[in-house]
Amino acid sequence: MRLLSAELWFPALLALQANVVKAQANSPNCTTKTEFFTQLVEHNSTANGTFQQQYQILKPHFKPGGPIFYYQQTETGTFACLVYISESPQSCTCPDLLQERTNYPAWADEIGGMVISLEHRFFGLSDASNATDPIEKYKSLTLENVMLDAVTFISHIKHTIPGAKDSKVIVSGGSYGGFLTTVLKMNYPEVFYGAVPYAPPLRSIGANYQNPRRYDWFNWVYWDLSAAAASKMRDAFTWLAQRFENLGEVEDIAKDLNLCTVPKTAADLRLVMGVIATNAELIPLLSYSSPDANPYGATPQKLVNITLRAKEPIDIVNATLTLRNPPNLVPCIAWDTDQSAEASLQKAPFNYLTCNYFPLIVNEIAEGNILPPTSAQTETDPMTCETLYGLVPPTQAEVEAKWHISRADLIQAPRIIFAYAENDPTSGVGIHPFPPSPDRNASRWMMTSLAAHGEESIASFAGDKPSVVHARRVQLETIKEWLGLY
Ligand SMILES: *[C@@H]1O[C@H](CO)[C@@H](O)[C@H](O)[C@H]1NC(C)=O
Ligand SMILES: *[C@@H]1O[C@H](CO)[C@@H](O)[C@H](O)[C@H]1NC(C)=O
Ligand SMILES: *[C@@H]1O[C@H](CO)[C@@H](O)[C@H](O)[C@H]1NC(C)=O
Ligand SMILES: *[C@@H]1O[C@H](CO)[C@@H](O)[C@H](O)[C@H]1NC(C)=O
Ligand SMILES: *[C@@H]1O[C@H](CO)[C@@H](O)[C@H](O)[C@H]1NC(C)=O
Ligand SMILES: *[C@@H]1O[C@H](CO)[C@@H](O)[C@H](O)[C@H]1NC(C)=O
Ligand SMILES: *[C@@H]1O[C@H](CO)[C@@H](O)[C@H](O)[C@H]1NC(C)=O
Repeated sequence: MRLLSAELWFPALLALQANVVKAQANSPNCTTKTEFFTQLVEHNSTANGTFQQQYQILKPHFKPGGPIFYYQQTETGTFACLVYISESPQSCTCPDLLQERTNYPAWADEIGGMVISLEHRFFGLSDASNATDPIEKYKSLTLENVMLDAVTFISHIKHTIPGAKDSKVIVSGGSYGGFLTTVLKMNYPEVFYGAVPYAPPLRSIGANYQNPRRYDWFNWVYWDLSAAAASKMRDAFTWLAQRFENLGEVEDIAKDLNLCTVPKTAADLRLVMGVIATNAELIPLLSYSSPDANPYGATPQKLVNITLRAKEPIDIVNATLTLRNPPNLVPCIAWDTDQSAEASLQKAPFNYLTCNYFPLIVNEIAEGNILPPTSAQTETDPMTCETLYGLVPPTQAEVEAKWHISRADLIQAPRIIFAYAENDPTSGVGIHPFPPSPDRNASRWMMTSLAAHGEESIASFAGDKPSVVHARRVQLETIKEWLGLY
């Protein structure tokens, strides 16, 4: 069974640094070596065997007792070249992305810390089972095991690296990694002293139709940039949805939108609409200043300007597609996943975990949003999870209660910075702002103006937005307070 809609939407939304790392995948300068660590397949039992989990340590500036920045990897992670060339992962020679592409080494250098990172089980080279049947293979892909991988690894580091025994650990990660960062801090506070989750989507969890917060990201960004442009966009997408109701028009639609192939069925047209909606969302989400992360320089401000000038609704729809697919480089719009450029992303384990413990809803759009209503079913849909894996996905309330991430839990926990970004639709399904606290060690919520999905967590470069440079400073100075480093 093909799960088209999910394949189209999920990877793009959650692959925080996928584009960033792709640019570096074949650099001949990649030299920092990774190592492997023996982990239990089931942390609660020695009877289920072990597997090798890939990790990296950067400690050129580590001073005994200094902090440990633990970067939680995800479905792509910083060893993502391992994922992107997963056709032949053993040939990957680029494991030093932590150094080149994330901001943590700069922080570690400033305060005498080290940076460590562990590959997420079942991704890259860290396969925890040789089984081929997914139900058998991913049985140990539980949130408890993923957390204990990190806990066990950190204990190993503290016991083997001189001077690290009493080091305080600050965990961070983005997107799905921001969710993991939050649950690690909340469930193992004795291991994780502080946490910086970037863009954690903590409030759009559960199966379709369940969670009233699930639509929030479709109204994020455009209205704040220009109400006039947003309403013109909404009218253009509504006009297109009406046009899509007539299958007699598919040839003309394919021509107008420069599609690679002509859609044939109503389901095909829903996929085309999904691609348009995904682009409308990814333009702001991935509007990084760094050309490595945003090679075509697509921004919501550009779409707003084009929209304000547009004479016809088709021009607005077309711009939504061409900003991320410039016609001189992308000959036509591929709407069928068979043509998807992200085909090598490791979807199978990610699809499983979205059924098992992270059922993020991203494929449903309600009436009253800037985009036309849709309800594409995904793996998170209970029937699909049941059919594929025999799993019933948990609800928002169940996830909050089981992993201690209700609003009340999060507000009372010390030393967490929930870092959201103004241009990132994920902020719409993040947690709401916290009330101000006089305690500098209390958890805090911040929103970085004009920033893209987790933009501060990416290595700095000359053209960074001033708001992003400032946000990095606020975060590091807050961490210094936590550590008493002044
Ligand atoms: C490799 O490193 C050298 C020296 O830092 C630099 O000049 C060169 O551009 C790098 N090559 C690539 C492909 O990144
Ligand atoms: C270990 O954990 C798994 C998954 O949570 C559970 O199914 C199993 O019964 C546990 N085994 C033991 C020995 O506690
Ligand atoms: C998978 O098979 C290889 C080769 O037989 C073996 O070395 C490895 O331990 C197996 N991995 C797991 C997780 O069972
Ligand atoms: C671990 O072993 C137990 C007992 O044989 C089994 O029931 C369970 O399914 C195994 N877990 C995994 C992840 O293979
Ligand atoms: C939309 O843009 C594509 C690519 O530039 C172009 O081929 C097509 O004619 C445009 N459609 C309309 C209706 O202008
Ligand atoms: C959008 O238009 C405004 C007003 O003309 C202009 O100042 C701004 O630079 C434009 N922005 C982009 C990204 O083109
Ligand atoms: C925050 O915690 C650190 C470490 O315990 C402590 O040194 C510092 O004084 C605290 N700051 C405030 C404002 O309480």
